[in-house]
Amino acid sequence: MNPRPVPEQNPAQPDVVLVVDFGAQYAQLIARRVREAHIYSEIVPHSVTAKELAKRKPAALIFSGGPKSVHIEGSPRIDPEIYKLNIPILGICYGAQLIAHNLGGEVSHTGIGEYGRTPITLHTSSTLFSVPDAPNSAQRQVWMSHFDSITNPPKGFVVTASTPQAPVAAFENTQNQIFGVQFHPEVAHTPQGQQMLEQFLYKGAGLTPSWTTKSFIATATQQIRNQIGQGRAVCGLSGGVDSAVAAALVHKAVGSQLTCVFVDTGLMRLGEGEQVVEAFRRSQGIDLIALDAAERFFEALRGITEPETKRKIIGELFVRVFEEAASKISGADFLVQGTLYPDVIESGSKSAAKIKSHHNVGGIPDEMSLSLVEPLRDLFKDEVRAVGTELGLPEEIVWRHPFPGPGLGVRIIGEVTPEKTKLLAKADAIVTAEIKAAGLERKVWQTFAVLPDIRTVGVMGDERTYGHLVVIRAVTSEDAMTADWARLPHELLEKMSSRIIGEIEGINRVAYDITSKPPGTIEWE
Ligand code: XMP
Repeated sequence: MNPRPVPEQNPAQPDVVLVVDFGAQYAQLIARRVREAHIYSEIVPHSVTAKELAKRKPAALIFSGGPKSVHIEGSPRIDPEIYKLNIPILGICYGAQLIAHNLGGEVSHTGIGEYGRTPITLHTSSTLFSVPDAPNSAQRQVWMSHFDSITNPPKGFVVTASTPQAPVAAFENTQNQIFGVQFHPEVAHTPQGQQMLEQFLYKGAGLTPSWTTKSFIATATQQIRNQIGQGRAVCGLSGGVDSAVAAALVHKAVGSQLTCVFVDTGLMRLGEGEQVVEAFRRSQGIDLIALDAAERFFEALRGITEPETKRKIIGELFVRVFEEAASKISGADFLVQGTLYPDVIESGSKSAAKIKSHHNVGGIPDEMSLSLVEPLRDLFKDEVRAVGTELGLPEEIVWRHPFPGPGLGVRIIGEVTPEKTKLLAKADAIVTAEIKAAGLERKVWQTFAVLPDIRTVGVMGDERTYGHLVVIRAVTSEDAMTADWARLPHELLEKMSSRIIGEIEGINRVAYDITSKPPGTIEWE
């Protein structure tokens, strides 16, 4: 998104821009956009105090949008002392309204909101809109989503843009480095939104872009060395990108002090086991214990059909097998986990209902009393991929679609057997190969096959068949919290379907899942 050349320095303490979350859908997206501008960013709740911020010393603040009106009692507020800290601030949507409200401007419920693509008119030259290669007109397209409007800016602020419905669509006080926009520069529907954010960061707040994959790796390896010292670390590999990158990073930092454990549950994707051994033991030279535990998993799953019971059985057996392997590594002190930043943020929210019990390769094992090493806990998925690429991991691992801990076990509906697993692994490999061949692998979040517990009648070569149904699932998503079913081209679906039926004996019908999340989940169980 941002091809800007950046310096190669390694700042020990990178500048941090804190995104203050007022309950926005988009807080994570804002943080990602700031990072795309090569400035490190994290999210903090709006309950953060001025005292806490003064200690943390952020280089700038961005107030996110939020679902509420500043006039509603109980709507999210901010410690007003924060305005006295002289930290540059950008308010977005609700964040802008709150700045106006707090500093003596006026926010009104005009009865006319704006939603979606909206043209704004610029009034004067302004920091945010002076983007390189800006259109030669006073009009800009932006994405709006608000029902209250700022009708008067605070004293000392200049109105820089408006629409007929929003008299103050943007305002700024360059002396105090405080800016507000009613629209959402962080979403892709605001065509120059990223540049506007960069104007705030580079010009408004005077920051230098310096947070890069290389600088992250340099800082992270040093931190890992400090943490592990002369100790021994163990890491469970799943074949997925997160544990793979975590292992490669820790290996770069402490070399042979790391041993990886790969448990082949028999529920992996086709060829995944060999690929992991090849990538880690042979190419990266990482000490790797690979265990084939497929029979134990199939035995434990015999006759089991209830999804949560399956998940529990797979999760518990995994822990047991992992422990057996790890106990052979004498004196392990540290457990490496591929925890990502979204997991860190989400584990902070307590109110979510449990939909299914996730099992992660990292979710191991209480009794081992190992200290955790989580070198990716500040990163988003796309950043993890960039680190993996920089560390030389093969593309097939770096760009693999996410795969659930219980593997194909939760994509086979009903009883899991070795025969069904073989059928599904083959169908899944065809779906994966075809999405790759169509150049869409990186455009969709996940594509895979599901084997429901259904057989249907068909006709092949004038003969009646009674075979399995395979369902293709493909979704687009930013973070797996919500997802949309992917509008794959019909020709591609047709190719997948005819290959699956033509090449895999026992399957005679293919369907496509057109359910988004919500109301569905991405996986079927
Ligand atoms: P759902 O099905 O809940 O999945 O919409 C959201 C994302 O999480 C993945 N997933 C898992 N990942 N352990 C994991 O590490 C699990 O037990 C698990 N279950 C689902 C799923 O593939 C999707 O990306």
